[in-house]
Amino acid sequence: MRLSGVQQSNFDFMKHYKRALVTAALPYANGPVHIGHLAGCYLPADIYVRYLRACKKDVKFVCGSDEHGVPITIRAMKEGVTPQEVVDKYHNLMKESFAGMDISFDIYSRTSSAVHRETAQAFFKTLYEKDVFQLKETEQYYDESKEMFLADRYITGTCPVCGHDGAYGDQCEKCGSSLSPEQLLNPRSALSSAIPVKKVTKHWYFPLDQYEHWLREWIVEGKKDEWKSNVYGQCKSWIDNGLFPRAMTRDSNWGVPVPLPDAKGKVLYVWFDAPIGYISATKELTNMWSDYWCNDDTKLVHFIGKDNIVFHCIIFPAMLKAHGGFVLPDNVPANEFLNIEGEKVSTSRNWAVWVHEYLKDFPGQQDVMRYVLCANAPEAKDNDFTWQDFRDRNNSELVAVFGNFVNRAFVLMHKLCGGRVPPLHKELLDDADRQLIEDIRFAAVKVGESIENYKFRDGLFDVIDLARKANKYMQDKAPWTMAKTPELQAENQKLIDNCLHICLQLTANLSILINPFLPQTAMKMCGMMKVVERMLDWENAGKMELLKVGYPLKAPELLFRKIEDTEVADQVEKLRANATAPNQNNAVSMPKNTDPVTAGPAGGITVPMPKPEITIDDFVKTDLRVGTILRAEKVEKADKLLKLEIDLGYEKRTVVSGIALHFKPEDIIGQQVTVVANLAPRKLRGIESHGMILMAQNPDGKLIFVAPVPGSANGVEVR
Ligand code: MF3
Ligand code: ZN
Repeated sequence: MRLSGVQQSNFDFMKHYKRALVTAALPYANGPVHIGHLAGCYLPADIYVRYLRACKKDVKFVCGSDEHGVPITIRAMKEGVTPQEVVDKYHNLMKESFAGMDISFDIYSRTSSAVHRETAQAFFKTLYEKDVFQLKETEQYYDESKEMFLADRYITGTCPVCGHDGAYGDQCEKCGSSLSPEQLLNPRSALSSAIPVKKVTKHWYFPLDQYEHWLREWIVEGKKDEWKSNVYGQCKSWIDNGLFPRAMTRDSNWGVPVPLPDAKGKVLYVWFDAPIGYISATKELTNMWSDYWCNDDTKLVHFIGKDNIVFHCIIFPAMLKAHGGFVLPDNVPANEFLNIEGEKVSTSRNWAVWVHEYLKDFPGQQDVMRYVLCANAPEAKDNDFTWQDFRDRNNSELVAVFGNFVNRAFVLMHKLCGGRVPPLHKELLDDADRQLIEDIRFAAVKVGESIENYKFRDGLFDVIDLARKANKYMQDKAPWTMAKTPELQAENQKLIDNCLHICLQLTANLSILINPFLPQTAMKMCGMMKVVERMLDWENAGKMELLKVGYPLKAPELLFRKIEDTEVADQVEKLRANATAPNQNNAVSMPKNTDPVTAGPAGGITVPMPKPEITIDDFVKTDLRVGTILRAEKVEKADKLLKLEIDLGYEKRTVVSGIALHFKPEDIIGQQVTVVANLAPRKLRGIESHGMILMAQNPDGKLIFVAPVPGSANGVEVR
């Protein structure tokens, strides 16, 4: 069998490994899961694990909530609740979102668990007893008004590298530089905006510098061809820039307490305890946990986002090495970031597509989002998610290629072969048949190879490509033309059988190949083929005898449905309407929210973010007119909608408007309004709405009409 030109360094890895332990970064339990999270690491990890399971490998997939650290305490202050309340709320929401998207963790644990506290403390204790740490007294920034030391994200200031004014004490999110509080220019407390003072404190430092030599050997020399270039590059530049001791403890009352007698008010640094969470989660999952962690024949793989690279490739491995007895990661496939509609995801600005909302808005459509996120996965560079692309990929790839082929194969088999798998007449095979059979075998090898090399997009494209070839094959063969009359069909039955036999075996293969990516689709297909899940075992991929000749199959079920323009337009509208303006330094000012801790959606009125610039030509396309509301009534089963009849002078219009929570119908009769008159009509709840009325918000957040000055005539233009 010829293999593709792609690298094969990891191919057949299970020859060297007995089992796999796959981790996905523990997300902070300070907000819901968004699709950027999924694309960054949870979906690729899940595809990888599902593939290994289909290969019948011994694999465990662990994850959980990261419940310590500044992100949690800051969130708690914002919401005016305790850190414990924050993590309790989000842990469950996150867990449900992952389950909703069929991310198949073997365990989704949390770092506030007792097992984790004990595991992290024992780890620290071991390093302490091995005399690994250096105890240092240093001066650190301190907020006198809040009586708190300001490490990490408690302190903000100007980035010394790029000049960005909102850099944190641990990192500048604008340029990605990793920072320490001392490097910030104009440092300010993130808690009170106070200018911090310096105060002496003591902490336990991990001597990362002592591991420089070992890390260079292990990564710079050992992983060059194996690790993704974005990961390798970041590691190399860290090591080349020199490594320094890092404090592994913090002054705080939220976290795992430092397990030493003279450490009151000190907790473990969140990046010390969180990765140990992978070990505690495995412990919780199985009492065979040490098989996975303490054997060199375990393949340990960490799936993460790019902002986590240094912690997983440098700091955590050095900790494991210092401790001894643990396996090191074989690979750390990190993705870049997924932007949304051309802009960086920002949870504070609410610029994100939230998974729990997607699941509500598109019930049963997990696989569509999985498909789009994998097809657009930011594997090598940042990538963009747009709703338009979501619709396009669904309609032109899932519906038109994959779903269409499967549906046609089933319909034709019922029509031309009596609803049963027809026989294969080998003596009649032609070149096109043989080529397609070869394509199936080849796709099976390539898809597996791509997944093993963490090239999930390539793998997915190869599956779709096979479906595309299958569609073309069927179109070229056109079995329906061979059956135009009963006589013709009788004459051609063997050729028709061959075509549909191959198409059905190909369908069975598609279900195996798509299974790691779109598990629900694969299960639906198994239902239609009346086969048990075991058929999806990867060893069956590429085989041509998956469905028995003569076996009756079910009627086809539509695998995917078309997504309408209006559905995605609604999503874009929702995204923009819910987003708040960029923070302090940008053009939009929000006078109510000057305190950086309470700024954001929680306090006062929020302002949507500015839209991209348009030209006057764009603007004059909009036909704005004065109108008067003649009638208003509630729309049944839609709490937010009113059906309005509007007099535009030259004609009367029906407009459905989302203002029902703000106005009683009888109160707005006679109200003059500004109407977008040339908006294409569209149906809302079965009513055709033709036009839109302009609304603004008063300071309490209540909607108000954008009304022309009294006395304007209906139908006049607003310019
Ligand atoms: N909570 C971190 C983040 O969201 C990731 C922690 S990964 C772990 O960026 F290794 F620490 F668990
Ligand atoms: Zn910067």
